[in-house]
Order: sequence, then structure tokens, then C-alpha cells
Amino acid sequence: MSIAVVGSANMDLVVRQPRPVRPGETMSGTDFSTGAGGKGLNQAVACARAGGRVQFIGAVGADDFGARLEATLRAEGVDVSLLRCVAAPTGIAAITVTDDGENSIVVVPGANADAEFSDADLAAIRSASHLVVQLERPVDLLVQTMRAAREAGTTTVLTPAPVRTDLDDLVALSDVLVPNEGEAMQLSGAPDAEQAAIALSGLAGTVVVTLGARGALVARGGAIVARVAPRFVQPVDTTAAGDTFVGVMVAWLAAGEPWEAALEAATVAASLAVTRRGAAESMPRHDDIVHVLR
Ligand code: ADP
Ligand code: NA
Repeated sequence: MSIAVVGSANMDLVVRQPRPVRPGETMSGTDFSTGAGGKGLNQAVACARAGGRVQFIGAVGADDFGARLEATLRAEGVDVSLLRCVAAPTGIAAITVTDDGENSIVVVPGANADAEFSDADLAAIRSASHLVVQLERPVDLLVQTMRAAREAGTTTVLTPAPVRTDLDDLVALSDVLVPNEGEAMQLSGAPDAEQAAIALSGLAGTVVVTLGARGALVARGGAIVARVAPRFVQPVDTTAAGDTFVGVMVAWLAAGEPWEAALEAATVAASLAVTRRGAAESMPRHDDIVHVLR
């Protein structure tokens, strides 16, 4: 079954540096690189590499970055026939990665702010088995797409990032909600991940809270129903760990695999991604995941 991703595509501009910079400070970085990114593109690539048939619904500018992002998606086997080219510049993310593997990010949305929703987009969402969205596109657009998916019986999967507080509509439209620990606590107001998962599962369908190096937990109908054991690795770059997790989870669910298998595969895939530098290019392929699972 096909998977529709409505999301952002950004050019990542990545600086590696020893530690976070202080206000007013000038510091020497150790490396600069550019790469395809954006939560939507990342999830689409993770999903396609894991074997999913993916349609990317997004927008880029008529510039070199946009052309490169489109080429990247195409090379990953993602359907880009609904990728719009708009007047605004392609979105960028200025990312700094410190020597301990943590990252901080400033996003300039540009073309991702485009809010058009065409009949062709609607048809793709209706015919997909899963709709995957994050919050780097206009919320009104996302509400519209989630409603369309719900009406058509397409399973909706929301990553509430970057998190904000006015998300009641989107959370209620989520069959699967996948926040990280911080997002889950912010969305629910609960003091820890477990209570947050329980609270959110009263509003959405299945809630999967990712816990970084501590794995993930799953809540449904007001109770914790599963815990996913972490894979122990030495992280090199945690960029897109969560996006890898979501993309792979959906690829496996769309292939008809049971929840437990999808969560295990997602955990393995995310742990592989954090041992490599970069966002989309650090994501494992189906065979890499299966190799570790065996
Ligand atoms: P996000 O990247 O959205 O902040 P998390 O940090 O919770 O999300 O990471 C998502 C998933 O990536 C985790 O559930 C886990 O499977 C994997 N992961 C993240 N960091 C590590 C790590 N240091 N070691 C092993 N796995 C990790
Ligand atoms: Na990575």
C-alpha cells in the first residue's frame, strides 16, 4: 500500500563545532556540509529506504537547493509528482552539531509555508494506506489533509514537531501520534513521559513516545501497552533519529507487519542512523535493518 507524506523539505546547512556557542561569541567550527533534510523529506526517505512506496507532497523554491532536494527524493525512489515548485525560496535548516553528538537547529521555512492543497493531493491521500505528517507545514493545511485522510479511512500518523500548544485538532485527528519525550510532556502538560503517553492516548489513537537512548513506550486507550527496549550504540549524530523511527515504523505497518515488529524495526533503524553523520543520508536500508534484527 502507498504512503503519503505531507511535509517539509529543507536544505540542511550543517556546522560541526566543539561545543555550543555563547551569545556574542565567535568560534571556529571543524566541518561544514550540506545535505537533504526537513522532517517531511527525512521521514519520506526513511520510509522509502525501508521498502515503503512513498508519495511526497511538499513545496520547494525554483532554485538550486530545490532542484537538489527533488533529485534526492527521486534517487531514493520517492514519487515527486506532487512536489510543488513555488515562488518562495527553498526552506533551509541551519544545524550545529557539537562534539558530544547533540544538535541544535534554526529552520527558515520558505517554500514549506505554501498552503495549497490540490485535488491531486486529495486523491493521493484518499488512496494511500497511511498519511504521515509533521509540523513544518502550515497547521491549516495539515488539519485539512488529516480530515481528508480520516474520511477516506487512511491511517493518520502525526509527529508533533516542532511542538506547539494549539494542536488539539491535529492530536484528535491522529490515529498514531509519535512525539519524543519532551514533545509528549509539552503537549500533555504531564510531568514525565509515561504519564504524558497515558494522557495523550485519551485524545489520539495509539501514542508512541520515543525516549532517545531509552527506547520508546506505547500507550493506547489510557494505558501503557508496550515498552520498546533500546539498542545500545555510541551516538555520532542524533539528527533525524525520530524521523527515521517514524518512517520505518510506517513502512513496516503499511507492509502489513504487526505493531511489535514495526516498533522493533524502527528502533533498530533509528539506532543505526545515530551512528552515522547526517540526516537522510544516515538512514539505513531495509536489508541493513533486517540484518540487525536477525
Ligand atoms: P527525536 O530525534 O525526535 O528527538 P528521540 O531522541 O526520542 O527522538 O529518538 C528517536 C529514537 O531514536 C529512539 O526511540 C531510539 O530508538 C533512537 N535513538 C535516539 N537516540 C539514541 C541513542 N543515543 N542510542 C540509541 N538509540 C537512539
Ligand atoms: Na544521523
